[in-house]
Amino acid sequence: MDKMYDVKNIMLAENGRKRIEWAAQYMPVLANISKRFAREKPLKGQVVAACLHITTETANLLKTLSAGGAKVFACASNPLSTQDDVAASLVRDFNISIFAIKGESKETYYAHANASLDGNPTITMDDGADVVGLLHSSRREKLKNVIGGTEETTTGVIRLRAMAREKVLKYPIIAVNDAQTKHLFDNRYGTGQSTLDGIIRATNFLIAGSTVVIAGYGWCGKGAALRARGLGARVIVTEVDPIKALEAVMDGFWVQPMERAAKEGDVFITVTGDISVLCKEHFEEMKDGAIIANSGHFNVEIDIKALASLSVSKRTIRDFVEEYVMKDGRKLFLLAEGRLINLAAAEGHPAMVMDMSFANQALSAEYIVKNAKSLRADVYSVPREIDEEIAALKLKSMGIDIDVLSPKQKKYLTSWETGT
Ligand code: ADE
Repeated sequence: MDKMYDVKNIMLAENGRKRIEWAAQYMPVLANISKRFAREKPLKGQVVAACLHITTETANLLKTLSAGGAKVFACASNPLSTQDDVAASLVRDFNISIFAIKGESKETYYAHANASLDGNPTITMDDGADVVGLLHSSRREKLKNVIGGTEETTTGVIRLRAMAREKVLKYPIIAVNDAQTKHLFDNRYGTGQSTLDGIIRATNFLIAGSTVVIAGYGWCGKGAALRARGLGARVIVTEVDPIKALEAVMDGFWVQPMERAAKEGDVFITVTGDISVLCKEHFEEMKDGAIIANSGHFNVEIDIKALASLSVSKRTIRDFVEEYVMKDGRKLFLLAEGRLINLAAAEGHPAMVMDMSFANQALSAEYIVKNAKSLRADVYSVPREIDEEIAALKLKSMGIDIDVLSPKQKKYLTSWETGT
């Protein structure tokens, strides 16, 4: 790509700038870091290649990295998640190189990811490990400048740990997803709310009184189940892990194999991180009118080819809704081509929760710069102090005080003499 950016329409920038500002008011922790970064410039001389969902929240992270002295190149981490007005504003108003267009083809998606590497990054920031994948395959010549990276999501961390295990990972990466101030809030409350938001915006379907089937009871599945129940649904959870299944039972949900749940659901939501969760035998059993959505990172959880092979016709009936007519006349509705429904049909997680996720990203980038020499090519956790600092700042921004241990209590917690 010859240009320093590729966005849908630069004229959309004005709306994007206002929406970035709107999100900023709910991101006080990131704002605090941004102010310090502007003073101290901890990222001076660094070049960041960020492959993230290009949203108003991400814009505030990219601005923070820029304030810290980094040159920033960014591409989308999903072909459907880009907010085109935000992309335009980042280019026009903040001098950030963006390569992202909502609805881009697979070819353009990879052309954009490659373009983000043309700036010779020293730090990568991934959501799904696609940029790491490129750097370790077709763009290996760009590895030499990279001192470290960060990863935002569960699926990406799983890929990176596999790379580290097989000793093919070439530089240290911080698993931002594994920070407590990330997955306990973003994955649970962020995915929970935005997934239901995406389904409702796409369909205007009434959740109350319906049966919602959630495949996967990880942090994202827990969030989606909680919010579906909150809206009045009867919620069925499907799981393969007996501990998580038990947890779902004791949290008050029905637990069944998908084979049975397929017959009962009005709405299906996959959030497992694995492939072929909903496939031929399930589509054959589903009720007329069933709505099928995915909120896992990749569009692999729903076997769309099998759905197509069972159908006699397909049409787009609303934005983000494909109607498949089965041979027996039943209609099944697939949302957002099986891609992340929360980012495709809604706006992703609210800024209030992305505040913590992206504070982790910014502080992890700073940590990489400070510790590059001592880190090996491996996957690292976010240091505990960073996690605690973010939680403390978030509480402070919410005006919430908490207790502190007295010296006597601290001593008790580190001693063993006191018993019954
Ligand atoms: N992932 C989920 N929600 C997001 C958002 N609002 N911005 C960026 N990445 C996200």
